Amino acid sequence: MNDLQIPADSEIRNREFVFGVATAAFQIEGDAASRLPCIWDTFCATPGKIRDHSNGEQACDHVARWQDDVELIASLGVNAYRFSISWGRIMTREGEINPAGLAFYKNLINALTLRGIKVFVTLYHWDLPQYLEDQGGWLNRDTAYHFRDYADAVSKALGDSVYAYTTLNEPFCSSFLGYETGVHAPGITGQANGRLAAHHLMLAHGLAMPVLRRNAPLSKHGIVVNIAPCDPFSANEEDVRSARLADEYFNAWYLDPLLKGRYPDSFKLLPDDAKPHIEEGDLEIISAELDYLGINYYTRNVMRCNGNGWFEEVLPNAVPVTAMGWEVTPATMTRMLISLDQSYQLPPVYITENGAAFDDRVEGNQVRDEHRLDYYRQHLWAVDRAIKAGVNVKGYFAWSLMDNFEWAEGYEKRFGICYVDYATQERIPKASALAIKHFLAEKAENI
Ligand code: NOJ
Repeated sequence: MNDLQIPADSEIRNREFVFGVATAAFQIEGDAASRLPCIWDTFCATPGKIRDHSNGEQACDHVARWQDDVELIASLGVNAYRFSISWGRIMTREGEINPAGLAFYKNLINALTLRGIKVFVTLYHWDLPQYLEDQGGWLNRDTAYHFRDYADAVSKALGDSVYAYTTLNEPFCSSFLGYETGVHAPGITGQANGRLAAHHLMLAHGLAMPVLRRNAPLSKHGIVVNIAPCDPFSANEEDVRSARLADEYFNAWYLDPLLKGRYPDSFKLLPDDAKPHIEEGDLEIISAELDYLGINYYTRNVMRCNGNGWFEEVLPNAVPVTAMGWEVTPATMTRMLISLDQSYQLPPVYITENGAAFDDRVEGNQVRDEHRLDYYRQHLWAVDRAIKAGVNVKGYFAWSLMDNFEWAEGYEKRFGICYVDYATQERIPKASALAIKHFLAEKAENI
């Protein structure tokens, strides 16, 4: 069935519902020569860090091809596009706006706006300028203030032309993967480092919020977190307890400071030398009111006790998984949204990312990605069910517009609804893209 089969009474069919596609700067832009080096350039240049030894120098060549890409986005019929600004493209090392970088993003925003496409801009999607990493990166509290100044300059320049600003994308990944397990840039390890980076990232978010509001009073301002619910491997009390701990460590660690102004109880379980230094007033800054919360959802984690009162992940076995090895579990998405709605006073929610990598093949200039199409169908139904249960979900973004640089996995994992032939840079809409396009065309007709 080549159709998304969105129920007739679904809010997703409403004209106001935001239906978009998403990307991020380092993953698609290329043209590395026109910006400052960032931590991902350094990481890619370090042997053994990227599975296919690739880098972001060319990526999808989006800087050169942005006009065609805007046409591609418009051709899908989406009413929103979420992308990120490269800090080192729009700012100089001296902290001034770089006119060429600014012009690139302004042109992009104008072209989207002319086509009636709402602009969702992420200010930080993991590409910290390397010179700031050389000063300690997110382990240095000053980086939070540098981020505030960057947010200030950008929002002064772009103002209300941006529909929604996002401070950070997935602070969990920046801190846990970047500074605790080291599988992402800058590749630093250790719990104390991970926890400190997390605190400084959250502080950066909180410091930027009032600045964004002042400079762009008509735009919406928020943050994007990734939520992967942690379920116990067994009903055994220790596994249940460990899964709860993991859930706090991965999810509530970010949501509680944002929405409750405090860290979860498991903060107390950290060894003293891993407790981040928190200054008075930090949590008030971090819990600044949000206009919206962006949630990225892909999968869940199954956890069991590691024998030491802590948790360890159990990899999925005998369940449907994507090419990333991530369990396909749409019911978890509905449950997660309902449970967050019950646990927090949620602002309006956007699903800012959802999607899947599969091993796509081009056959006769077509890509029949049935698994991905099925993934989208099931997860859109999951969103529909959450909305029907009362969760205020205002929009949904497919990750991603096109195949791109999947971080430590390089270009081998394809998340796009459009296929990218990296040799020619041709974009081929996959069956999933055509299904989305079909749904949106039908929706436009019926309004
Ligand atoms: C989350 C990140 O925001 C994005 O950059 C990444 O490509 C996708 N998830 C898929 O892993």
